[in-house]
Amino acid sequence: MNYHDEFNNSKDNPEAFWKDKSTDLKWFKPPQKILSQDEYGIHHWFSDGEMNTAYMALDYHVDNGRADQAALIYDSPVSGIKQTFTYRELRDEVALCAGMLKDLDVIKGDRVIIYMPMIPQAAIAMLACARIGAIHSVVFGGFAAPELAIRIDDATPKVILSASCGIEIKRCIEYKPLLDKAIKIASHAPNHCVIYQHKLAKASMHPPRDIDWQEALSKSEPVDCTPVKGSDLLYILYTSGTTGKPKGVVRENGGHAVAMKYSMKAIYDMNPGDVFWAASDVGWVVGHSYIIYAPLLHGCTTILYEGKPIMTPDAGAFWRVVEEYKVKALFTAPTAFRAIKKEDPQAALANKYDLSSLESLFSAGERLDPPTYEWLCDTFKLPVIDHWWQTETGWAISANMRGIEKMPVKAGSSTVPCPGYTIEILGEDGKKLSANQQGNIAVKLPLPPSCLTTIWEDMPRFKAEYLETYPGYYVSGDGGYLDDDGYLFVMGRVDDVINVAGHRLSTGGMEEIIGKHEAIAECAVVGRNDDLKGQIPVGFVVLKNGIKDSEKDIIKALMLLVREEIGAVASFKEAYVVKRLPKTRSGKILRKTIRQIFNGETFSMPSTIEDPTSLQEIENLMSRP
Ligand code: COA
Ligand code: AMP
Repeated sequence: MNYHDEFNNSKDNPEAFWKDKSTDLKWFKPPQKILSQDEYGIHHWFSDGEMNTAYMALDYHVDNGRADQAALIYDSPVSGIKQTFTYRELRDEVALCAGMLKDLDVIKGDRVIIYMPMIPQAAIAMLACARIGAIHSVVFGGFAAPELAIRIDDATPKVILSASCGIEIKRCIEYKPLLDKAIKIASHAPNHCVIYQHKLAKASMHPPRDIDWQEALSKSEPVDCTPVKGSDLLYILYTSGTTGKPKGVVRENGGHAVAMKYSMKAIYDMNPGDVFWAASDVGWVVGHSYIIYAPLLHGCTTILYEGKPIMTPDAGAFWRVVEEYKVKALFTAPTAFRAIKKEDPQAALANKYDLSSLESLFSAGERLDPPTYEWLCDTFKLPVIDHWWQTETGWAISANMRGIEKMPVKAGSSTVPCPGYTIEILGEDGKKLSANQQGNIAVKLPLPPSCLTTIWEDMPRFKAEYLETYPGYYVSGDGGYLDDDGYLFVMGRVDDVINVAGHRLSTGGMEEIIGKHEAIAECAVVGRNDDLKGQIPVGFVVLKNGIKDSEKDIIKALMLLVREEIGAVASFKEAYVVKRLPKTRSGKILRKTIRQIFNGETFSMPSTIEDPTSLQEIENLMSRP
């Protein structure tokens, strides 16, 4: 089979194609309806199949010869712990944790928020929810209390699972005070919070709401898998949109399991028993898909790494893990590769390790910039594969389908559309553009399995933001082009979303926070290109008249505000006071032009600009030493 045949099969007869892929998994009752549409016209895959994702990922393997194979390896340079769970051990831990949730009256369809550091209990908690058909919503540990509160109010969880603390390199981050603060801010109150007491910090508890994880677990009994429908939700994962309100991307069990399983071979060329490592965080979609679900559904060994690419203890950390566990494929974000390259440009640390198990390097989260790509190729002499995807899809939209056909790589391209995705480049008027013309990257409906079917409890927003711009298409929010060979080049977001060290953030959300400060009349936040983090936010603020505080103090206060409201991951460390923001005559802030100026790109003076001197002010800031 070559790529083009595989792709054409998926395009010409999607139902037969995905039905065939679904048979690689063990369903309780195989689906009869392969593709159906609901009353809103939204497509769902495998809606009437009966299954359980945790069963497919764990019990199935225990019953079919993998009971004693390593399922999950926890490697934590920050706490000095290494721990291996076989499939049987992981299944048993998950069944017990599911029992604990059941004791707290969590049933199918209930939401459970998981706000935890990268410890095995986070993975166990996710799979335990899946086991009883509860819908988990993992909130990245780097988010501050107000961000957590927004998610608590939107998902209305019955229970929140958390830990006393996490470790950031050498710093102990206490989660419990953040959780308490979030619950105080939120309108919705969970019935219970179950707190895993980390040995580094003991959380103060508020009984009867708060429950000690270890104590509760010691009293619970393992429970079996609850059958769910293919269209029942496995999880909600919040991601940044253009406003401060994140979008609850929903994932259905059936389509997700099928796409995960398919992608492990088709994209990553993994076989059951292989060791796969996604160096990410369970708080992000990469962590959901490729630390937890896909490797386990495929019978691989996965690695949960609690550390950084550098500093834990050095830039050789990733290669130490590769050697130690004989990793076959490593997947991480370009920012992590850039951090390693900066610290260890000659690969002196990497050369200390035996990397012979490693067959390929995968990158996603932002475009793999050609210099980093070249460095990886020259240094490791391995295939380096960029692939493009989003929280919304749960798996790659375009990739080099290495398990089907190893296609030549082009630097700066995420190769070709994955089977199931008909990608077209559309102009602003919705017309299809020809090869090499840059425009909006859109995917023809229906989307393949695993892609979102709505935004949690907000169908109008789902339709408005993704489906109504170009009827018949899903708009990705990214811009780019297809070349003459059908290779996709993703060039960046066309909206106000930025990507900071692989973390997707909303500049609009930051503006909402900055705008709340009493000294600020108006503001704009844009992404500035950054050699390490890809992008970093830069703020431009106009002060109200009569403000007495110094500009320096105000800027400092704004940085603190963003850190407290969103979290340190926002990396909001650069802002300027300006006399006025560049705007059109109708009052629209010219963010794109500001961004172009700040990134040293060529720009044309918008004909609709209200006051050209406002742009001059930004240019002057740029040329300031
Ligand atoms: N909990 C609490 N705080 C966190 C956190 C977490 N889970 N993750 C990050 N932070 C904090 C950091 O401590 C840092 O705080 P500081 O400003 O007080 O120093 C801040 O958020 C920014 O962190 P980060 O973006 O990680 O930058 P960094 O300069 O500390 O490290 C890299 C740079 C490149 C090493 C790091 O960003 C990295 O490992 N990136 C990979 C990201 C990734 O895998 N993304 C997944 C997408 S596939
Ligand atoms: P997230 O939903 O956090 O995974 O972020 C998705 C966004 O990250 C996409 O819409 C892109 O803007 C960007 N992105 C992810 N992978 C790539 C890639 N390989 N090339 C270019 N941009 C990417």
